[in-house]
Amino acid sequence: MNLLVIGSGGREHALCWKLAQSDRVDKIYCAPGNGGTALVAENVDIAADNIEGLLRFALEKSIDLTIVGPEDPLVLGIVDRFREAGLRIFGADKRAAQLEGSKEFAKRFMEKHKIATARYGSYSNYEEAIKGLDDFNYPLVIKADGLCLGKGVVICDSRKMAEETLDDILNQRIFGDEGSSVVIEEFLDGIEASLLCFVSEGKVIPMESAKDHKQIYDGDKGPNTGGVGCYSPSPLFTDDLKEKIDREIVSRIINGLREDDLFYNGILFIGFMVVDGEPYVLEFNVRFGDPETEVLMPRLESDLVDLIDKCLESSIDESDLVWSPKPCVTVVATSAGYPGQYEKDFEIIGLDQLNDDILVFHNGTKYIDNKLVTNGGRVISVTSLGNTMEDARRKIYEDLGKIDFKGIYYRKDIGKF
Ligand code: AMP
Ligand code: GLY
Repeated sequence: MNLLVIGSGGREHALCWKLAQSDRVDKIYCAPGNGGTALVAENVDIAADNIEGLLRFALEKSIDLTIVGPEDPLVLGIVDRFREAGLRIFGADKRAAQLEGSKEFAKRFMEKHKIATARYGSYSNYEEAIKGLDDFNYPLVIKADGLCLGKGVVICDSRKMAEETLDDILNQRIFGDEGSSVVIEEFLDGIEASLLCFVSEGKVIPMESAKDHKQIYDGDKGPNTGGVGCYSPSPLFTDDLKEKIDREIVSRIINGLREDDLFYNGILFIGFMVVDGEPYVLEFNVRFGDPETEVLMPRLESDLVDLIDKCLESSIDESDLVWSPKPCVTVVATSAGYPGQYEKDFEIIGLDQLNDDILVFHNGTKYIDNKLVTNGGRVISVTSLGNTMEDARRKIYEDLGKIDFKGIYYRKDIGKF
């Protein structure tokens, strides 16, 4: 089979790495890819949101299966477009992608299908939104409706900050049309966890749990990032909690997808806040998480091509997903300044010195004249399975010291309890 993976992050490197292990795969292309995907796939210089360019490429190369990493092409309707052209593609179609592409759509879905979530109001008019603030205590959360490159969620500690945020989004239009409406919601104080699921025509099959660390500094301090460390499984997911999530969330999502005719074959990522043992859904994504994928792929023992095929054929069953019992930890090395301004093009050294059981997934790298250099805020995800979480963690931190690039920064507390 010839595969096309769309995207350019650590998630796509981990997917390409896992797909390449399948006997059924002859060739993997990754568009546009990065320095890491180049090691297991052939990079193709087409942007992830250039749907027509990707379609032309897939037709020309007789691609048997396309796997979409990021949300933008899904929200733009890449799945619908590929299907119309008779191509097999794994991901949410345009309608279902609104579960991620519109906060209001997602909240309405949760409300309608009685899925526990933060109390909210939705507004497109500034004055009404200001009035709506009266219904909430501080801190509260303001979310621009659309994608906003993951920057559309603001936690406001005061009325002043909330008013300024509403002005920025609804009047100044700092996110353009992606901020033509907002969701205001209550702040949930708890522990976050992610549950990625395979979705196949109305079936939702959870993978193992994962815990992403979004803040840049140790102790979950500082500004939010795309995720700078992750481990799987999350010890928060006790049998009790899993059972509750199955009964009160996953089964209601299944009913909701069916009732609302949101049939698709792809991924559903459920972001949870667990407050006093009770799970609340914070958000849906319709794609693999990053860095969740970097810890889930090493633990997945089943053939990923088989799983995706079965999803597309509606024959996937829970028993098809076989997981290693070994925990997995990843720590993301970032460029100085991230998630703010940062510089690129610094040479990355030391990757050839690492122990054999360390996996390095590239988030933002490229090759210039055969030299691997930094090319993003998140640079590489240093990953290891271990007999215990502590064992995996120890292996990673021992080897991280061997890696260097100018301004390298990483958290020291990932996987530590
Ligand atoms: P979202 O894109 O909705 O996941 O929001 C991004 C991040 O903001 C989440 O991962 C949480 O850390 C935080 N967040 C979002 N909604 C809430 C909420 N209602 N209460 C507390 N934190 C939240
Ligand atoms: N790690 C969070 C995300 O992929 O959205």
